[in-house]
Amino acid sequence: MSSQNQFRQQSHKLLVIPGPIEVTDEVLYANAHPLVSHMSLDFAAVFGDCIRMTRDVLYTKSAQPFLISGSGTLGWDQVSANLVEPGENVLVLHSGYFADSFADCLETYGAKVDQVKADLGSVVSPAEVERALKSKKYKVLTVTHVDTSTGVLSDIKAVAEVVRKVSPETLIVVDAVCSVASEEIRFDDWGIDVVLTASQKGLGAPPGLSIVVASERAMKVYETRKTRITSYYGSWKKWLPIMKAYEAGTAGYFATPPVNLIYAFHASLSQITKGSVTLEERFKLQKDASSRLKKAAEAMGFKGLPLSTEVAANGMTALYFPDGLEASDVVPRLLKKDIVVAGGLHAAVKTKYFRIGHMGVSAIDAQRGDIDKIISALKETLAEAKASKKA
Ligand SMILES: Cc1ncc(COP(=O)(O)O)c(C=O)c1O
Repeated sequence: MSSQNQFRQQSHKLLVIPGPIEVTDEVLYANAHPLVSHMSLDFAAVFGDCIRMTRDVLYTKSAQPFLISGSGTLGWDQVSANLVEPGENVLVLHSGYFADSFADCLETYGAKVDQVKADLGSVVSPAEVERALKSKKYKVLTVTHVDTSTGVLSDIKAVAEVVRKVSPETLIVVDAVCSVASEEIRFDDWGIDVVLTASQKGLGAPPGLSIVVASERAMKVYETRKTRITSYYGSWKKWLPIMKAYEAGTAGYFATPPVNLIYAFHASLSQITKGSVTLEERFKLQKDASSRLKKAAEAMGFKGLPLSTEVAANGMTALYFPDGLEASDVVPRLLKKDIVVAGGLHAAVKTKYFRIGHMGVSAIDAQRGDIDKIISALKETLAEAKASKKA
């Protein structure tokens, strides 16, 4: 195989769905690392680095990362099985499709779930959170940082402040599958207890890794639970010694880790935490790219699904089709121009909008020109679609 400096991925359609996303040549090259033993010291060193760099992305010093083969969904299972005991109350803040699925997962493990639902395109307000927390004692509160179905961004710092004020023992669990490394998360400063995410979005690696980070407070709650953990594969009892071993530079075995994906994740985390762009600059570049794309799309006549810019995500954009147009007018035309976007997902408006992902390298590396490519493809698509309606 060619050396890392020579490796270039083959030309392909621009993948701008809200995950998986475009990844760098370095990440793909790392994914092609020769297979090594998952018990080797070489691999343990790489895994240990991944654990430490995962902490860095979230600005946490003391939280415990779990890197386990699986997807973002496995994070829901881990929270449900390790932190909640059957019959306990969980409050789910709903800003779109993914909250329903998390609630369903929690109930599968026996939790009693209440949801506070925001209007479409909006988030649950701190006042509503306060009211709900005063009405009942909740063991866990969950909030979706960026709901990938709506492109809505929740203010998790504000949510955490309310929880700490009104119900300090309630654990704050953030579904950050579509936000880690695209949106700022100050895990320790904001008092968050769990961030769950996956490798294939802002973290810029191929799919296949579930990443869960738990605070010391969450780990105490897990350690002092009274009933047996309700999962085998997702049990922190099994995985904690493995994570500790890898972090100490030795290996441990419970179930085989995704060796090559760990190399790819290491390459991506290295670029995010030690690359030419700092983490702070990364978040600013994300915002700039997002606002450029959103403004251009709105000037063309597309309307954003989030009700205001304050609640709009920076790593993705959800746009209603202009009047008279539908998915079949827009999405296939973009595809013909080698731009891969995603259709609608939220049941209430599924056929009325589409989604563009612009996390990671598409937003950070301006030289690639991905944002410009999307904007010009949208312009051409719109002109063609309107012309075809008139014909
Ligand atoms: C907000 C959110 N939560 C959870 C998930 C589930 O993650 P996965 O598809 O990796 O299992 C997704 C997937 O897109 C998501 O966007």
